[in-house]
Amino acid sequence: MTGGPAPGGDSNLLTDRPDLYEARFPDPERLAARWAEDVLLRHGAGPRVLDAGCGTGRDAAHLHGLGRRVTGIDVATSMLAYARTHHPGPEYLRADLRDFDLGRTVDAVLCLDSALLYCHGNDELDGFLASCRRHLSPGGLLVAEMRNGAFFLGDSELLDRPVTRTLSDGGVVRTSVTTLWVDRAAQLLCRRRVWTADDGSPPLEQRSAWRLLFPRELCHFLAVAGFEVLELHDGPGPRTEPPWRPGAPAPEGTTADGDRLQPPPPYHLAPPTNGEPLLPPRARARPELPTDPNFSPKEERSA
Ligand SMILES: C[S@@+](CC[C@H](N)C(=O)[O-])C[C@H]1O[C@@H](n2cnc3c(N)ncnc32)[C@H](O)[C@@H]1O
Repeated sequence: MTGGPAPGGDSNLLTDRPDLYEARFPDPERLAARWAEDVLLRHGAGPRVLDAGCGTGRDAAHLHGLGRRVTGIDVATSMLAYARTHHPGPEYLRADLRDFDLGRTVDAVLCLDSALLYCHGNDELDGFLASCRRHLSPGGLLVAEMRNGAFFLGDSELLDRPVTRTLSDGGVVRTSVTTLWVDRAAQLLCRRRVWTADDGSPPLEQRSAWRLLFPRELCHFLAVAGFEVLELHDGPGPRTEPPWRPGAPAPEGTTADGDRLQPPPPYHLAPPTNGEPLLPPRARARPELPTDPNFSPKEERSA
């Protein structure tokens, strides 16, 4: 058993300091947002997009710049404040992934960089998927990109030793030592990160955890929530090695061996009619995608 990891929304230096988050996980080419846009275009998604667990807002703002109508939700007020200031355009709202009600519908929900895996328990996963389905118009898409729990079956590459990194924070050099381990009973990937700084401040220990979901288990959660799985694989995505590149052909594979599921193992889900009672998924016909004659996203294919 573990010492009880903190939930995803708990204190985290990189969440409290979104500028450090972006420095630690740079995405100057906005690959994540461009990958998401590629998926949305490929599946003919309408213009209204919800970015669930939007963090600093950089993906939401990029999609807004492409002509989409974007709402970003996050539980961290620090992230939302930063997003409103540094990545304006989308509407940013405070909401919990595990159960949210924005009183509107959208054409697509994005959940990037493992944000879905902050739903640790089965009921929390159910709550997230039910919330997504409630907000999606008929035929809408759920695009999720996340770690792949199956990667840890027989592969301890990420668990074998602590990883040390340094980060420049103005005049201060911050060092993090990160240790990962698996809580098998809880199906959680647990993280302990200890921050030290050369300004004499005391060490800061922080914990977090992500649900470990296996591909078939995920498909089951999705089917029960009323989604049809259109794609699920570990093809190139914004956080795979090598990463997805603009102009890459649509992924064809169905493998799920990599440490990221997507295209990083994404799921593009088609919910039934909004408000319709849950029925066995096989009983459901996939509705037509909504069309908006005023929507014409700008193509972005430059490197
Ligand atoms: C790894 S970051 C990903 C941010 C962004 N999607 C990206 O790809 O850069 C995860 C985000 O999920 C948010 N988060 C964690 N638990 C949450 C919850 N229960 N409800 C809403 N947001 C949550 C965190 O505050 C953080 O901003």
